[in-house]
Amino acid sequence: MTPIIAGNWKMNLSKAEAVALANRIHEHINSRNAQSLPRVVLCVPALYLSDVHAILKNSSVEVFAQHLHFQPAGAFTGEWSAEMLVSVGAQGSLIAHSERRQYHTETDEQAAARIAACLRAGITPLYCCGELKEERLSGRHREVVEEQLTVALFGLEASDARKLIIAYEPVWAIGTGLTATAEQAGEIHSHIRFWLSRRFDEQTANAVPILYGGSMKPVNAPELLSTPNVNGGLIGGASLHADDFIALIEAASRQ
Ligand code: PGA
Repeated sequence: MTPIIAGNWKMNLSKAEAVALANRIHEHINSRNAQSLPRVVLCVPALYLSDVHAILKNSSVEVFAQHLHFQPAGAFTGEWSAEMLVSVGAQGSLIAHSERRQYHTETDEQAAARIAACLRAGITPLYCCGELKEERLSGRHREVVEEQLTVALFGLEASDARKLIIAYEPVWAIGTGLTATAEQAGEIHSHIRFWLSRRFDEQTANAVPILYGGSMKPVNAPELLSTPNVNGGLIGGASLHADDFIALIEAASRQ
């Protein structure tokens, strides 16, 4: 499976900074032999989607949103739909990132509706799951992730499940500098793969990329990315610095 390096810019960068970063990534991608490149995804603030899309539209880089409403249109002030995202060039969206769960009380029931909205509009749902620190300490991490997947993927057909990207992001590792060890990531990633094979079938389980997220950086990426069942990374902090993000693209190219 082609590895994926996905940057999550979160609520960072001015428009000029976003444009400069997208241009640096574009230059790098265009200077490289396309065959050895990972899939590169940028989850950008919705305000900059059109601009970033305009810069990257002739490259292999995919531009995603970080959030969407599940209805196609309506009286939902401040929101945007999957169809609106398509109209500004988005090819996917993050769903249920832990910061959306924490600060916007998003649930897995809502994640299921957002996944359906992405599929309706023909864009890629990048669904995030992962346990809290207490859940890891009490050894409940596998159970927690299973519960999240069970609700968020409820009712999904195998043919649609194959369009998903899943990111496992232990909440205790996000933006904290703490990283899951390769062993911890490998264990839960293989568990997610196993869960997918039971819920759908083996072929579907093997088709879904499972990314690791949580303080991935150039220094720890080679080990994490070479761990079985880790198909790439969802990167916050390090995706804001062109040199670091390019180093991560290169680390994934060597896999
Ligand atoms: P981080 O963020 O790389 O800064 O830990 C990851 C994420 O939240 O997706």
